[in-house]
This record gives sequence, structure tokens and C-alpha cells, in this order.
Amino acid sequence: MFNRRTVLAGGASLAFTLSACGKGSAGGSEDSAKGGTVGIAMPTRSSERWLTDGKSIVEGLKARGYKTKLVYGDDDPKAQVSQVGKLVQQGVDALIIAAIDNKSLNGVLQQAADADIPVISYDRLILGTKNVDYYVSFDNEMVGLIQASYIIKKLGLEDGKGPFNIELFAGSPDDNNTKYFFDGSMTHLQPFLDSRQLVVRSGETELKQITTPRWDGPTAQKRMSSVLTKWYRSERVDAVLSPYDGISRGVLSALKSAGYGSDIKPLPVITGQDAELASVKSIIAGQQSQTVYKDVRLLADAAITMVDDILKDRAPWVDDSTGYKNGVKAVPAVLLQPTSVDKTNYDTLVEDGYFTADELK
Ligand code: GAL
Repeated sequence: MFNRRTVLAGGASLAFTLSACGKGSAGGSEDSAKGGTVGIAMPTRSSERWLTDGKSIVEGLKARGYKTKLVYGDDDPKAQVSQVGKLVQQGVDALIIAAIDNKSLNGVLQQAADADIPVISYDRLILGTKNVDYYVSFDNEMVGLIQASYIIKKLGLEDGKGPFNIELFAGSPDDNNTKYFFDGSMTHLQPFLDSRQLVVRSGETELKQITTPRWDGPTAQKRMSSVLTKWYRSERVDAVLSPYDGISRGVLSALKSAGYGSDIKPLPVITGQDAELASVKSIIAGQQSQTVYKDVRLLADAAITMVDDILKDRAPWVDDSTGYKNGVKAVPAVLLQPTSVDKTNYDTLVEDGYFTADELK
């Protein structure tokens, strides 16, 4: 049985033994001999990255002898709660969950805890419950920092250039990552807002004014269009902070409809995240400026290794056991490093096998 109280997880050196008699442990049942079954709940099929995450987790677990049950919540928090409930009822040995709404899973995670099913919060931290055992993600604040640094460099802000007009976009309000991305960016942009080298003409600088429910591109497009109509009749926007490629593409559509993308009205510097194929192509075509590349195959690997360790009574490696607080506890976390990709270095994606050269044509 997975025994929550034995999860100390203070670092790689902390060896401990989980109680060795139950599900998934080397206890001799047919299920455990095969490694057991892992339930995987992903948020949506509408974004390419989550398809890669799901596929990579399934393939990696199968390679280690596990069975898998993969479900997608189609961006509906209630649907995800019921999917996770079903996985618990089916008696999975562990759960890997990328939450749609960071708080809606608390009830169903109590059921998981009652059934001694370990839970890994995948990419997005689940808040407000003690029943989340580990967290695997990228350094989310670093993502925001990379996006802000790109804008700072491209506009020459450190050389004193400006003033420039910028508009800010953030992710879904119910995703814990949204705040990390935004804070990571704003720590670096704020000094230039204070010095008026950067001006937000819409005045919308508070997180609650700029979030994009469900990270939805068309929603971002709508907001960008209305900001352009209201505030940029005679002015030009020089940069857009966008936290995610889907939002960047929505913003780009609004900009193009407003006549941006010509010599006299060039597109602004526009950031992104996830290195989605459509956005990488847009970068190559000189439209979106940048994206943050997170190799989610490595994230999948991290989650798989963690599950395998837990179910085989080994102490999972963690990088950070204090920093990721979910309101009830600090969740031991493994954090991978994101990197910036733009027109100058998108080859990395091919070298890593993230895309083939043909796919990028
Ligand atoms: C976040 C994730 C981003 C992006 C976004 C929209 O939680 O960290 O990489 O995928 O969701 O799907």
C-alpha cells in the first residue's frame, strides 16, 4: 500500500522505504508483476502539446511494463473530475494529472487518498489539498523571465531606448502556472514601466484584467482587437507579452486584421510558449517573434520515473521540496529548464527530434 506518511521527499539523498505490501509494489500479484496501471488525466486535445504529453507518458510507461488509462478532459473541469473519479474506481495504481481547474479536483483526490493512490500533479500544480504527492513541471517563473527578457532585448530597453507601447496577456485564471509566468515576466518588465520606456496604453496591467480563460486563442484575439480599436487608432503597439503560442496566434490574427505586418506598420515583438508547430512556422515566417521551448517528452519522462520509483518503493528524486506551496503543503517538485527559441535557433527543435525538418517547411 502507498503510504502517504512515508513520503519525506527532501531531496535525492533522502532514501526511504514505502510500505512494500500493496499495489504496484513487488508484492507478487499479477498486476504488480506487470508494473500495474497508471491513470493519466490530461486537460485538452485542442492544443498540440498535451497530445505530445499524453502520448509520451503512455509510451514511456508501457516501455517500463505499465498499463495505462489516458483520458482528456476537453477543458471542462467537471468532466475531468468525473474522469479522475472513474480512474479511482477502476483501481489504478497511480495518477498523473494535469489539472484544468487547479482547485476543482479536491473532492476526487480525497477518494484517491482513501484508496492509497499516489498522485502526481503534472505541469500545473493542484491547489488546496494535501492529497497531491509530487509535482513535475518546468521552472515556470523562468518561462516568464525568458519572455520578458526577449522583449527587453529586442526593444533595446537596457540601452535606454523607448518609449514603446506594450500590451500584456496572461493565461487561464484557474491555472496556477498563470501567476508564475506573469510574475516572472513582470519582475523584469516593471522597471521599464516605471521609467515609462514601456507604456501600456490600455492601462490593463493587473493580472485579473489580462487573463485568458482556458488559454483560448479566439478569446485573446477578441481582447487584442478591442484594445487596438480603443487605444491604437493613431498609435502603434510595439510589443505584446503573450504567455502561450495559442494566445500569440490569436493576438497575431487581431493584429493582421488591423493592418499590421507591412513595412509601414510592422508586427510587434510577440512572445509565446510551447513551441507549437503552427507557432514555430510563424516564427520562421517572421510573424511571431519567439516561443519558450519546453521539451514535454522530458517532462513525461520525469513523471514516469517518479511513478516507477513510487510504485517500486524507491525515493523519487526532487529538486525543490519547499518552493511549490499549494495552500495546504509544499509539494515536492521536479523542475525542468525551459529555453528560448526564435528565428535564430529554431534548428534546436530539429536537432532534438521535437520536429522533423520537413514538418517545419
Ligand atoms: C500551461 C502550460 C503551458 C501551456 C498552457 C496552455 O499550464 O504550462 O505550457 O501549455 O498551459 O496549454
